[in-house]
Amino acid sequence: MITKPTIDRIMEAIDIAEVIGEFVQLKKRGANYVGLSPFSNERTPSFTVSPAKGIFKDFSSGKGGSAVTFLMEHEKFTYPEALKWLAKKYGIEVEETQESAENREEENHRESLMIVSAYAAKFFHESLLETEEGHNIGLSYFKERGFSNETIRKFELGYSPDQWEAFTGKALKEGYQAQFLEETGLSVKRDNGTMYDRYRGRVMFPIHSFTGRVIAFGGRTLKSDKSVPKYVNSPESDIYHKSNILYGLYFAKKAIRDEDNCYLVEGYADVLSVHQAGIENVVASSGTSLTVEQIRLIGRFTKNITILYDGDAAGIKASLRGLDMILEEGLNVKVVLFPDGHDPDSYVRLVGTNAFKNYVAQNRKDFILYKTGILLKESGSDPIKRAEVIREVVESIAKIPDSIKASVFIKECSHLLEIDERALLSELNKMRLNKARKDAQQATRTIEPADYLPPEELPVERPVKKDESSQEREIVRLLLLYGNRMIDWDGIANTYIGPFMTAELSDVEFEYPAAKKFVDVYSRELENGVLPDEQFFIHYPDKDIVDITVTLLATKYTLSENWYEMHRILVPDEQANMKATILGAIFHLKKHKVGKILDGLRTEIQKADGGPDSDALLAQYLQMKKVERTISDYLGSVIIK
Ligand code: CTP
Ligand code: MN
Repeated sequence: MITKPTIDRIMEAIDIAEVIGEFVQLKKRGANYVGLSPFSNERTPSFTVSPAKGIFKDFSSGKGGSAVTFLMEHEKFTYPEALKWLAKKYGIEVEETQESAENREEENHRESLMIVSAYAAKFFHESLLETEEGHNIGLSYFKERGFSNETIRKFELGYSPDQWEAFTGKALKEGYQAQFLEETGLSVKRDNGTMYDRYRGRVMFPIHSFTGRVIAFGGRTLKSDKSVPKYVNSPESDIYHKSNILYGLYFAKKAIRDEDNCYLVEGYADVLSVHQAGIENVVASSGTSLTVEQIRLIGRFTKNITILYDGDAAGIKASLRGLDMILEEGLNVKVVLFPDGHDPDSYVRLVGTNAFKNYVAQNRKDFILYKTGILLKESGSDPIKRAEVIREVVESIAKIPDSIKASVFIKECSHLLEIDERALLSELNKMRLNKARKDAQQATRTIEPADYLPPEELPVERPVKKDESSQEREIVRLLLLYGNRMIDWDGIANTYIGPFMTAELSDVEFEYPAAKKFVDVYSRELENGVLPDEQFFIHYPDKDIVDITVTLLATKYTLSENWYEMHRILVPDEQANMKATILGAIFHLKKHKVGKILDGLRTEIQKADGGPDSDALLAQYLQMKKVERTISDYLGSVIIK
């Protein structure tokens, strides 16, 4: 874990406008900055950054938070990743607690592997650009394939000299440890313990993690000899898990988000060519068939995948099944097929950037309709084959978790298959039912009996209405704004507003989840002797808390004015009469809760219907009624002056 002093130092250093300015173009407006929301496609800027408070608020998507939250939302960093990014930006050394010696060692180990990989990438890149062999063999190959200097530099392409120890020898001499060279697969150990280069005479494609660090390599041979493997890739290691990695994601992620679509291709060369043509939202699964982890990784940036296939029919049929997996993850899949055995790389080089873009736009087909088309063509008029086609198509549709989306496909496919929509729907329902049965069987097998509740006994989450939550939110807002002020009204002295409020509300059950969480954290901090302030909550490592904090701070006056208006209380400036403001909020909330208890009792009394419980219930009801009146009187006397 990153230590508290380090976090404090990072928080002090943060200039939120500067951090967000790296991703969003901001213009100064008064004390704030505004820009176009990076989370939606708005035309008029509603994205606001307040440097004084250290927060941003995006009114179009509702997102808001600190610089840390921004990095987590925008770059999809985890909390520690965001902190480390900021530490790097501001030159702050990160101290981490020795959680356990083991963890620490593991981290060090991974770090060592990444350092060796970064060194190797630099070595190969320099060999390509600065040695005669690299120029003559590697660079001329890349040039012939049409890769620009810009592409070569951006993707750090390289060349590994055709010698046994060019890289290994130099790395060892410079102090890199044999163990790490071997684990990354950059060097191979001989029986006698000496080591040699794995990628001799190959052009090198470094593979980056999605935060941009080199974690592996693919090396392509330049020989056409069939006995030599075309690609040699890094083995799995502590930093490289092939199934979790997409080639090019680091360079594509911004464009994927901007375009709200991710192009998926097969090879390194395809990524480079398509990217170079100006379509930057492109990644490759690099030789493995697509995994669930890879799909989820894309899903962090967009829900739309477009597959760019080479036009080889056998390959297409084989991959149809794999694509169902994408549907199952709730993503939309489109496919584009290239003519005459072209792959994206060869096609873009053949026709040029513009024609390529047009081709993709015009030949993009929805995967399910596309699959239906191919299977239909294949089956011809054979009725048995046709039945099989229908089953396969519905199987894909059944994978779509969104039932509205699924029913749209049912409709479209019923036209293509020339079959009644209702027949498809009944087939769909049958499959869904089967799946549900299977899932349920699996669930009873894996879940302990104690954990298993039949559906009717599951606690029903009561939806919280907006005006209902607004009273609880008002409490949170007042705690945020005034919690660490001294009480200045008569009768109570030497107390802060925050502890006073939480004590007064200790008998109130908060229902709105974010407010409940907030008040719990607030009380816990008080117990620890800390009076938490705005900044504490803005930087709190919990999204719900940051969200409610920022929303309330950003809408400081609007909410309050509405609220008082709603209750017909005239307080021109809530700070002019803090007693009325604070007590008003507390007792309005209490009155509301009492009102709900009364509602409950009323129904129970009706149900009891003069039976044995009636008297007790009625007594309770009258008691509560008295409480309600007291609160109303109190509100009347204290607040409406
Ligand atoms: N691949 C691999 N090992 C091989 C062949 C292929 O790992 N022996 C992986 C590589 O990631 C490659 C991808 O599968 O990028 C697609 O293969 P292919 O289309 O043959 O490679 P390209 O990158 O298109 O290479 P080129 O155009 O230079 O032939
Ligand atoms: Mn290719």
